[in-house]
Amino acid sequence: MAKSTLPIVLILNGPNLNLLGQRQPEIYGKASLADHMSRAKETAAKLGLEVESLVAQSAGELVTAIHGARSRCAAIIINPGALTHFAWSLNDALATFSGPIVEVHLSNPATRETWRHESVVASVASGTIAGFGANGYTFALNAVSTLLAEKK
Ligand code: DQA
Repeated sequence: MAKSTLPIVLILNGPNLNLLGQRQPEIYGKASLADHMSRAKETAAKLGLEVESLVAQSAGELVTAIHGARSRCAAIIINPGALTHFAWSLNDALATFSGPIVEVHLSNPATRETWRHESVVASVASGTIAGFGANGYTFALNAVSTLLAEKK
């Protein structure tokens, strides 16, 4: 099969997001991460984008993935989980990426505990989508599509 030449969007998910669907469903919903990623892939196909996704339990793994995306991926969508609130190495890594970066949260951290109010990635992201539950990743892909089209 011929290799796809569609722009690649890397979707990164941080710690505990592999437990979506089982983990506090009253906050994060009933859909699993696999459900979110398959919906994201369907949306991406309609937008002419290709999705690659990774779930990592540590900041180091996410930093490595961001470095790998620098020469290969058109955009990054990232839900860093709790790393959002303190893992500054993610800010430094994302600052080296030149394409659109969309930060996603299923819940709205601004309405939750105060320790969730700071995001270490917001200042290097193109924008943040928070509080839209299962729609978060598809909204983010639509944002990426618009941003990439504007860059052309
Ligand atoms: C989250 C919000 C974070 O505060 C939390 O630690 C998560 C998930 C979200 O998607 O709403 O793990 O990023």
